[in-house]
Amino acid sequence: MIKRFFSIFVVVLLVSIGGGWMFFGCVPDKEIPSDDAVQDEEDYIVIGLSQIGSESDWRNANTGSFKSVFTAENGYYLLFEDAQQKQENQLKAVRDFILQEVDYIILDPIVETGWDTVLMEAKDAKIPVILVDRQIVVEDEDFYTCWVGSDFREEGRRAGEWLEEYLKDQGRQGEEIRIVTLQGTPESSAQIGRTMGFQDVVSRNADWKMLDRRNGEFTQAKGQEVMRDLLRTYEDIDVLISENDNMTFGAIEAIESAGRTCGPKGDIIVISFDAVRAAIRYMQKGKINADFECNPLLGPKVAQIIEELEDGGHVEKIQYIEEQYFDASMDLERILEERVY
Ligand code: AHR
Repeated sequence: MIKRFFSIFVVVLLVSIGGGWMFFGCVPDKEIPSDDAVQDEEDYIVIGLSQIGSESDWRNANTGSFKSVFTAENGYYLLFEDAQQKQENQLKAVRDFILQEVDYIILDPIVETGWDTVLMEAKDAKIPVILVDRQIVVEDEDFYTCWVGSDFREEGRRAGEWLEEYLKDQGRQGEEIRIVTLQGTPESSAQIGRTMGFQDVVSRNADWKMLDRRNGEFTQAKGQEVMRDLLRTYEDIDVLISENDNMTFGAIEAIESAGRTCGPKGDIIVISFDAVRAAIRYMQKGKINADFECNPLLGPKVAQIIEELEDGGHVEKIQYIEEQYFDASMDLERILEERVY
């Protein structure tokens, strides 16, 4: 409790003198309880959240999920840091959180490697680290308390299995199928898992030819640029695998600008990941064939983990969240009515 008091007191003091951010070298986007609320400071659980950035609709929904749960009203004090796609910013944010003696660190690691030293520092400071969304590779699994997120390899594998079935239904078995892939941030577990999972299915289909895999950085602009180039390079593309929806939106623009068509009635089959609302609308318009969900709403699950830890309980080390997929044959209007992101 003293630690919490100190943390909140220092941060509020720094902010109130108007120059606190210079001390930490960054501007935390925080939900600061009012002065009245700070009178009950012992009741707050201080969270330091290092987010990757705002590259996609998925990412924004993910940030929104944490911000809606870790509020002063719910008993939390949130220090939020946007790393703007740079691991070095995440390393710095985690070190700032340690310095501020937060109660918990939530880290969404942009890439899988390079976390050992900073997580050892958090462990030495006895601050539990909860990893979300993407995973890491570390020497010692005790460097973090637990991880919550998606099974990216399974998403990729399910996308491949969907394509197998779809081609069978279309009577295209035995035909050469020419595929290109727009990949997400290199070395991120979302990119690695989806690529590997889809490759698992490519490997057992001798007629499928992976023409190219290129980095689209998980963004719409890059997806469009790279797809434009792929269309110039390869004449006959049958299938586009796009490792997130925003790259897909950009790719669709490139496909249409090149005078080509996509979706169930077009000449390029489009398979995407995330399944955000905008992608379901694209599917309704006949431009995406199938979309494999990646659930960004991790806030409530992480809050539940923190409650369990606060009660002295044990939490599962690896916690996958449930996911589904959507394709153009489904009742998309009904799906949109229920979809929150
Ligand atoms: O790590 C999750 C991935 O990162 C999402 O698929 C993508 O949209 C995001 O940017």
